[in-house]
Amino acid sequence: MGIAGSERAGPHAGTADASGSPASFDVQRIRADFPILARTVRGKPLVYLDNAATTQKPQAVLDALTGYYTGLNANVHRGVHELSERATEAFDAGRERVQAFFNAAHSREIVFTRNATESINLVAYAFAKPRLKPGDEVLISAMEHHSNIVPWQLVCEATGATLRVAPIDDRGELILEAFDRLLGPRTRIVAITHMSNALGTVNPVAEIVRLAHGRGVPVLLDGSQAAYHMRVDVQALGCDFYAATGHKLYGPTGIGVLYGKTQHFEAMPPFLGGGDMISSVTFERSTWNALPFKFEAGTPHIAGAIGLHAALDYLDSVGRDAVAEHERQLLEYGTEVLSSVPGVRLIGTARHKASILSFVMDGVHPHDIGTIVDREGVAIRTGHHCAQPVMERFGVAATARASLAMYNTREEIDVLGRALHRVREVFGS
Ligand code: ALA
Repeated sequence: MGIAGSERAGPHAGTADASGSPASFDVQRIRADFPILARTVRGKPLVYLDNAATTQKPQAVLDALTGYYTGLNANVHRGVHELSERATEAFDAGRERVQAFFNAAHSREIVFTRNATESINLVAYAFAKPRLKPGDEVLISAMEHHSNIVPWQLVCEATGATLRVAPIDDRGELILEAFDRLLGPRTRIVAITHMSNALGTVNPVAEIVRLAHGRGVPVLLDGSQAAYHMRVDVQALGCDFYAATGHKLYGPTGIGVLYGKTQHFEAMPPFLGGGDMISSVTFERSTWNALPFKFEAGTPHIAGAIGLHAALDYLDSVGRDAVAEHERQLLEYGTEVLSSVPGVRLIGTARHKASILSFVMDGVHPHDIGTIVDREGVAIRTGHHCAQPVMERFGVAATARASLAMYNTREEIDVLGRALHRVREVFGS
């Protein structure tokens, strides 16, 4: 559909990239679709390796956003006029695109939120909180982002429930036997990340869902990181809820997604109250709109849904399996390059991991690493990555983190490697 700009995102079939990426994957052609990658930073070509924080946006997404605001801007689900009808169609088409992307059974199982954080909060407050009693338990893991810890702490505090934490090992892998043991008769929900933002670990989520469902426990998966690196099929996984965020899926900021099974969404009260989420309102009582609108109070991020549509079209035009394979090869190469820098220690060496190179360097604070490599045009993230318990588990205050996306190249990893040698020179080590 034109407004989503999908026609710009042509197939990226091409010759083999010099880096050895899959023959169907032309990384230079993909890079040309991302205008920001052509810019310089501190006089050097930008090497953007902070994709776990947010990905860059292809021209197709920028065109979809501009196209909406220049040709279609109107509120949705409200007007009988032409623009409103067309904006509503484009917004609804965005939801259907998300449904197809995650292979949800119905578009009513897709709720638009602001981000994955809001998606998790929605489940914590509207699904878990009404069900939790003193002594009940919420089970998470030791590798969660703060957004999959704090909402659960808040609802546990409010209800007298207890937060249980499944441990991880020295590689950063979930200890599945311990997770299984922690699944008890009082466990009311499991909330666990599909892929760790701080370590790169990809959890065995199908197995986690199987174990939890075996005890009758529903499962929320935090897909903030996983969704743009691998194929996600919520029906095949069998999860009850799946949270994702648009800005990591090469889409705009401010648009998030919550997948939820119809029977859960039907049974849940609203999360936020306001316009659009009601069926009728009197001062005595209000009744709720049908799914998914019951959970979408107020004017939604219409442009965000349209931009996300374009982003998912773009990602699928490149091919999720081809992206995953390209990133797998880059991760392998990046692991070699970083491991060859004296004094560098990788944090997170799970056997199944994706696209994250988290590391520390002897005698150098991660913030200093970040500052020095920035002078070479290299953007990485440093700090606790909103995962302080992960830092504590590995006995570090912070890490430096390079994170990969479809447009990164081996040459960029080489630039990072050279910049890290420069860090060592600066620190005289
Ligand atoms: N959660 C994002 C990250 O890991 C922002 O950087």
